[in-house]
Amino acid sequence: MLEYLGTSGSMALIAHLQREKATRSAMDTSSIKRKQHILQQYPLKSRPCPGVYTLPLPHNGAADKDMPQSLHSAFTDLTMLARKYLATANTDDKSMSAARDRLLLCPYIKQIASNIFTFPVFTEEFSRQVMAEVDHLRDHLPESLKSRPNSMNNHGVLLDEVGFTEGFSDVLLDQYIRPMSALLYPENGGGTLDHHRCFTVQYAQDKDVSLATHFDNAEVTLNINLSLTDMQGQQNGDLLFHGKQGEPRPQPVRFQHRIGWGVLHLGKELHCATPLIAGERTNLIMWCRSAAWRLKNGCAMCGETAGLKFAHIQNSI
Ligand SMILES: [Fe+2]
Repeated sequence: MLEYLGTSGSMALIAHLQREKATRSAMDTSSIKRKQHILQQYPLKSRPCPGVYTLPLPHNGAADKDMPQSLHSAFTDLTMLARKYLATANTDDKSMSAARDRLLLCPYIKQIASNIFTFPVFTEEFSRQVMAEVDHLRDHLPESLKSRPNSMNNHGVLLDEVGFTEGFSDVLLDQYIRPMSALLYPENGGGTLDHHRCFTVQYAQDKDVSLATHFDNAEVTLNINLSLTDMQGQQNGDLLFHGKQGEPRPQPVRFQHRIGWGVLHLGKELHCATPLIAGERTNLIMWCRSAAWRLKNGCAMCGETAGLKFAHIQNSI
């Protein structure tokens, strides 16, 4: 590749990679500092909708009486079933496979292809409320406290830095996503997911309009639509799933977004976002990771098992 780029192109690429390496090495420290600064300067209770930062624990009902129901009842029912089937399954493959099959009989989950599932997660009203809060943060945070959600998306908010971790994404992972992933992805670290990166991505004509084919830095990804301009299905911006590297699907699998609905897939599934033709859309993405999985099988990005650093890891259920 360096031969193809020539001397100046090679030097530019090497400089870019060195900058990226330095940025990533400093990321943990600078991200923690940014989060501390943001929470000091903009405490959650001073924000327009403080209730949006706390998701209910299973069986606890709404966390805030002034808040609309946040999690869709189909999602809480589905994850309750997952916990129940998981608790009664033995750890052998046959028993886990039977529990998985029982979960997939639930009408609230739809398998759209092997290892790709969709179901409602948030109510529409709550999706709008999260969106309004994210818009408010984006408009009010100084540029120095904003960071890109990931290396491919230019527009969005890194939710982990603005207060959505402890009561929101940790709860979502620990109480809801992991029990389902344990049944759906037992061979891919689904049962040991213990840390995550949570962010929004925004698409519009004057922002990013599409996303090239890639895999995620995650064992399991949950991608939830928060906002979508109603263009009677003409806006596009759909997801296309192509299969794993070396194991392409015969035909790409298309997924059309719907407010409050999530699509759950393996991080190593190659996927892209088709161009948005009109309107806007914003999605909330959880890259769910497993330290145990990575120490044994390697990082999703570099394949290394040694010298790995892990973001904040929450307690297990
Ligand atoms: Fe992705």
